[in-house]
Amino acid sequence: MLDKIQQQKKAAGEYAASLVENGMVVGLGTGSTVRYFVDRLGERVANEGLDIVGVTTSNRTAHQARCLGIPLADVDAVDYIDLTVDGADAVDPQLNGIKGGGAALLYEKVVAKNSKRNIWIVDGSKQHAELGHFPLPVEVVSYGEQQLCRLFKKHNLNPILRLDEDGRPLTTDNGNNIIDLHLDTIPFPEELATWLSNQVGVVEHGLFLNVCDEVIVGGDEIQVLKRDMAKN
Ligand code: 5RP
Repeated sequence: MLDKIQQQKKAAGEYAASLVENGMVVGLGTGSTVRYFVDRLGERVANEGLDIVGVTTSNRTAHQARCLGIPLADVDAVDYIDLTVDGADAVDPQLNGIKGGGAALLYEKVVAKNSKRNIWIVDGSKQHAELGHFPLPVEVVSYGEQQLCRLFKKHNLNPILRLDEDGRPLTTDNGNNIIDLHLDTIPFPEELATWLSNQVGVVEHGLFLNVCDEVIVGGDEIQVLKRDMAKN
């Protein structure tokens, strides 16, 4: 029996899978919500002969998709991605968000930026009036990461190097590390995003601003929030 949050994740994932059409190149995000999406896509490929090509954002998702028989292509082998479905750690009313809780932010951003349409699937706990409650992941090269931690500390960004279950610095699929910034609020996300991108050693940050077109919130009733509506 799934708890309420898992039920919401499953509902959002399965609803998103119903939006995928024959012939699409589909970006496959990462995380526990996306797992439900990919499971349902796999069922559709097997049962309906749904003809799609997936572009994955992590080794985990690639493994799941392969096991389910979903054909995959490298991001560089396609002209563009029609639709990407991904999860999020926090979403604000403008559909800006924080991603990277699952350490896949770099590939997720590359795939998102090459997608015509980006949908995020979330449970209700991910919606916030403003960003900041969820620690902001910053992917960094390991060389000089302690220097970056000191710099972030000096700027009151409360950095903590993410560790794996063995207590070693967590390594991403790209061989980098993650520093999580524990911020209560992010009043100026654009400024912080620009500042982070300008720091040597930062590979990418988890602020996804003006990326998402639609958010699907799972629940007894599915809620679909669109960027166009958020702008009004
Ligand atoms: C991975 C991510 C995930 O999409 C995000 O962490 C949401 O995960 P979940 O669906 O498990 O709550 O950004 O890097």
